[in-house]
Amino acid sequence: IKNIAVLTSGGDAPGMNACIRAVVRTGIYNGVNVFGVLQGYQGLINDNIIPMDARSVSNIIHLGGTILKTARCLEFKTDEGMEIAFRNLKSREIDGLVVIGGDGTFTGAQKLGEKYGVQVIGVPGTIDNDLYGSDFTLGYDTAINTVIDAIDKIRDTADSHDRLFFIEVMGRDSGCIALRSAIASGAEAVLLPEKATSLNELIAQLETGASTKKSSSIVIVSEGHKHGGAYDIAKKVKERFNHYDTKVTILGHLQRGGSPSSFDRILASRLGFAAVNELLKGNTMQMVGLRGNEIKTTSIEEALTKHAFKLESDLLEMTKVLSI
Ligand code: F6P
Repeated sequence: IKNIAVLTSGGDAPGMNACIRAVVRTGIYNGVNVFGVLQGYQGLINDNIIPMDARSVSNIIHLGGTILKTARCLEFKTDEGMEIAFRNLKSREIDGLVVIGGDGTFTGAQKLGEKYGVQVIGVPGTIDNDLYGSDFTLGYDTAINTVIDAIDKIRDTADSHDRLFFIEVMGRDSGCIALRSAIASGAEAVLLPEKATSLNELIAQLETGASTKKSSSIVIVSEGHKHGGAYDIAKKVKERFNHYDTKVTILGHLQRGGSPSSFDRILASRLGFAAVNELLKGNTMQMVGLRGNEIKTTSIEEALTKHAFKLESDLLEMTKVLSI
């Protein structure tokens, strides 16, 4: 393999830059030419492909976002779009592609591999931690740190005013960010998409807190919860429980930004390095991931179809015990 390319696609995640750096430098170290594709699959279609060298990834290891930009590209889902993308790769004799992103990104890579024989390796990069085959995805750890930093600040004011706060966090259908944030911030309750918690249960928990002299409470709500978002839940709870003044905070996109944690920088470097090594070995249609502190591959097919339940059972149990 002589020429490879790297792209980031879907929602950005802290650690993507550290991963791009690892891909570019591992490729160059091994005598391979490395190209960067700007704006994910949209850039493949628009022929927005630039040569990279070791210096083009200097001073980015600590930056959030992605220097290659990203997009959610609908055109790539069409046969015509994919055909154009393939031709642009072909014209530069690019045979291998590292894609950094989530499940939408991998679906595109899988099609490109299957239909056109492009060698593709996926790196799990999403704050949601919702992919099978890697205990952690890039950006997940940083996002949790951002969330707990915000909740610590909210706790100061919640406590000063004796208020009940509903704080909505991202994660799409995954409650991973919510669960870990709940444990790390000492939240009173957490509502997860994967676990049916009735409003009755939540109210009973809050009642217990009030009767045991809790002056304030924090409830974390996953954006994908079936009872709705934090505003809906706060409204329903308020109708039946009024021990505290109630406030809502939606943390939103601030969870996607910021300098990656040491964990994410190291994970990004390991996964970028491993992705290029997989290409060099001639492997394709694989995702590199972290399992039990070892870098392992999983077929992209499996990563996409096996829906992992990734909530740690001890953490789930602790949410009730440690919040009494
Ligand atoms: O997948 C990452 C994520 O931040 C989800 O947690 C969230 O649901 C979604 O992306 C938001 O997407 P967008 O930035 O396109 O609104």
